[in-house]
Amino acid sequence: MNPGKSGVKEMIAALDVQPHVEGGYFRRTFQADERAMLQTTNGPRYLMTAIYYLLTEDSPVGQFHFNQSDILHFFHLGDPIEYNMIHADGSLQTLIMGNDVLAGQHLQMHVPGGIWKASRLLDGEHGFGLISEAVSPGFDFADMQMGDRKKLTAQFSQHRTLIEKLTRDDD
Ligand code: GUN
Repeated sequence: MNPGKSGVKEMIAALDVQPHVEGGYFRRTFQADERAMLQTTNGPRYLMTAIYYLLTEDSPVGQFHFNQSDILHFFHLGDPIEYNMIHADGSLQTLIMGNDVLAGQHLQMHVPGGIWKASRLLDGEHGFGLISEAVSPGFDFADMQMGDRKKLTAQFSQHRTLIEKLTRDDD
């Protein structure tokens, strides 16, 4: 059923995903537009939004970024994806989403708002990894901040090597 590495382009086309600013590909699949908006300190937001998020060999990294909202992640298909989260107190949490539950991989992951998160496709037979994300309050670009390498390494110098690997070199 999995299309194999030669099928990555077909996967992108079948899911109708577009390049995401953080890396990888996405498409919004749901927004709660039948319900009242939530009033947040940043303005009105959907109660919930959802996306497909796809990492591929050609775009294997979701760069460090910061979200205000809580995000539930659900692994679907393909190769495992490593997640690195830096919490406000500087602690680092690393876990792997994938379907090898017996090896400790996660099918579901909850990331609360207020955390720096990056994702990275691990080597495997497929050349892609596909998850979904459900975001509440709903996603808005105004609530998302891309990681600036200089600022993040200054703030979390103990994680310099990781941050340099998972941010863009804008110099
Ligand atoms: N990340 C999580 N949800 C979304 C979304 O709806 N749009 C974009 N661009 N990124 C997201």
